[in-house]
Order: sequence, then structure tokens, then C-alpha cells
Amino acid sequence: MSITRIKGFADMFSPESTLFTRMENCARETFYACGFEELRTPILEFSNLFRRSIGEETDVVQKEMYTFPDSKGRSMTLRPEATAGVMRAFIEAGLANQKPVTRLFTTGPMFRHERPQKGRMRQFHQINCECLGSHSPLADADLICMLMRFLGRLGLKKLELQINSLGCPECRKNFKAALVAYLRGLSVTDLCADCTRRLETNPLRVLDCKQPGCRELTDKAPHLIDFLCGDCRAHFDMVLGLLSSQDIEYVLNHRLVRGLDYYCRTTFEVVSGDIGSQSAVAGGGRYDGLVKSLGGPDVPGVGFACGMERLALLLPEVSENRPDFFLVSMDDACRGAGFGLVQKLRAAGLTGEMNFVTGGFKGLMRQAGKSGARYCLILGPDELARGEVTAKNLDSSEQKALSFASVTEHIKQGL
Ligand code: HAM
Repeated sequence: MSITRIKGFADMFSPESTLFTRMENCARETFYACGFEELRTPILEFSNLFRRSIGEETDVVQKEMYTFPDSKGRSMTLRPEATAGVMRAFIEAGLANQKPVTRLFTTGPMFRHERPQKGRMRQFHQINCECLGSHSPLADADLICMLMRFLGRLGLKKLELQINSLGCPECRKNFKAALVAYLRGLSVTDLCADCTRRLETNPLRVLDCKQPGCRELTDKAPHLIDFLCGDCRAHFDMVLGLLSSQDIEYVLNHRLVRGLDYYCRTTFEVVSGDIGSQSAVAGGGRYDGLVKSLGGPDVPGVGFACGMERLALLLPEVSENRPDFFLVSMDDACRGAGFGLVQKLRAAGLTGEMNFVTGGFKGLMRQAGKSGARYCLILGPDELARGEVTAKNLDSSEQKALSFASVTEHIKQGL
């Protein structure tokens, strides 16, 4: 039986791989300008890190993690998201003592055993940012402004920023009680099986169930922002005010409770109407108790992650960069001299390749055309004897004999 790739895991060829590089470059440029530094954390971590940070009752921990024992029987997990690993690294490196605010971004593959569909993979990639050390609403708004600037620079328009506040544990306790009372007032059989279970384990998640029946039932459910304490309400109002001051439009979404347990206060998602049901291209929020709950100091934080596969669905196709030349060498002697010329052209900043084996002239010219190069440099025994190449412009078909020394200049001028 032949070996194939695993369902939900993709090989990524160009142009998608080129799109990913472009996204990462744009992210680096945008985030560096805001004081972020890049951190790369391991893909494999002890399972407890995710259980404790994401939460035992979440779908991610309950159903979606790739977890297995190592040779010593310790439980290991392929990271389903980046935040937990970044927190562990932040604590282990003692970064809390180094500066008041630490800004870290990371990119790379994440793993969730979900049902694959458009925009949902089992191995997917995130661009992830965390800002640690500040309770201020300025930190939330600054981060959201940066996210929207990044998406704008990628050329993405028609995106909607949705925002909510989950308040502090005290606000949430009061809200949960009101929500559970409301849901129990409904006939429980009206909720889907998942929500009937969530009602006991994680009632807030009933609000973001996608089943039409559950959505209808929760349309009239209490709203979390009506249960915010004075401090949380003031924090949220300030975040909203700062966003408005920067002309960032948002929509309040009372269902935005997020699928990971560490959030408090601000939560947000950026959604697109153009990519089907998996519409969130980015999601994040504040997580003030997380570092402490993992054994670190009491450091607040706010962050987000973008799904790169989903962003790629929205980006315009990139036109592949055309190489500058293709060198056609007709025999072994020409190939030796051609090899030297190709190295010289590349050292001068030009891009291109050559044929490594002998072939018929027509076939080699076809190969040059297929490469997309602008110039074909023909090097046969006659040219070699004269110390020249014939440079053919593949767009205009004009050709000219050139000394080896003048090829670089000729191509550069023609580009
Ligand atoms: P999340 O909402 O679980 O948040 O994921 C963030 C983004 O990753 C989603 O909006 C989506 O674009 C993408 N994503 C998630 N699952 C998949 C999948 N199976 N296939 C393709 N794309 C996917 C987090 O992961 C948080 N750690 C974000 C965060 C950082 N919060 C604070 N800091």
C-alpha cells in the first residue's frame, strides 16, 4: 500500500506557500513596529499545560487534542494553539521581571482533531500575538488596532470585527446563574445533545452553538454585558472608545464567549462573509488569570491568533515571480562554462537556472519558455569559441550576441 498524507494534513506548494511567506513577512513588519519580538516555542508539550490553560471542559481538550504517551509513559500533546506554550515559556524564562510589558509573537503549525472542511484543517497555521503585563484597556485597543492594520496591509477588506466582554469571574458567576436559570426554563429537549451537556459543564458555550434550534432558543437569553461590574464595564467602554477614536468599526456580539476557558473581559473575533461556515479569520481576548494559574506571577495579558489557511482563502492569487534568465547549454563543454556564468549572474542579483543534461535545441528552448524566464541565454559550441552567449528576449523574440562580461548589464537593463 502506498504511503499517503494524513487526512486533514496538507502539503503546501506554491502559490499557497508563497502566500504564507507573504503573510509572515507582513506580520513581522507590522508587529516589530509595535514593539513585538518573535518567539518560537516547541510543537510538543506536556498535556497538562493545555488541560490547565485551555480548560478540561472545552471541546479542544475533550475531543480535539493529539495526545499520546512518550516512551516513559508521560502524556504529550501536539499544541492545539500557541498561547499556552507562550505562557509556559514566559514563566520559565522569568520574563515578567525584565520589563513592564512583554510583547511576543509566534507563527507555526497547530493541531486539532476536528472534522476537516473548507477553512478547517487538523494541522493548520496561526500567526499569534500576546501582550503581557498590562491591565489597561489601552493594551486591548492597541492590539486590536495592530491586528486590523495587519489585515488591512494584506489587502483584506470587508472583514467584520466582533467584540464582547466576558467580565471578571465575579460578573461571570452572576451571568452564569442567570443564563442557566433561563436555559432551564426552556424545555431541555429543545437544546441539541452537545448543549444539553454544556448546560452542566460549560453553560456559556451554549451561546455560540451553531445549531439553528439552539440559536433560536438563545436569541432571548440574557446578555453578558448587562452583568458587568463597574470596573469591567468601564474597561470595556474604554476599549470601545479607543477603537472608535481610530475609526475602527466593530459589532457587539453577545454570543462571543470563545471556545477556550482562559478568557476574561475583552473577547473579539474578525469574521469574513466570503469563506463559508468557518468564517473567523482571527480570534482573541484578555486572559488576566492565566499566567498565575500556570504557576507564574500574577501577570495580565491580552492576545489574538489569525488562522493562516483562512486568510489565504481571502488573499488574491499571487502572480509567481518570473525568473530573469534560463541558460541553454548545448554540450558538456558549454555546460561547464555556462555553470560559471549562471553563478556570476546570480551573484549579481539575477534569478534563473540552466539545463543540466544534453537535449535537442527545440526541447531546451521549450524548457526555457516553460520556466517563465524573460531571457534565454543560448550557449552552443560556436558561442563558446567566441566567448559569447546569444541572449534572446522571450517576450519580444529579439536576440543579440553578448560577451560573457556584458550579459549581466544587458539583462538588468532589459528588466
Ligand atoms: P482560536 O479562536 O481557537 O483562538 O483560533 C484562532 C484562529 O485560528 C481562528 O480564528 C481560526 O482562524 C484559526 N483556526 C482555529 N482552528 C482551526 C482549524 N482547525 N483549521 C484552520 N484554522 C483554524 C486561539 O487559538 C487563541 N490561542 C487565540 C489567542 C491568542 N487568544 C489570546 N491569545
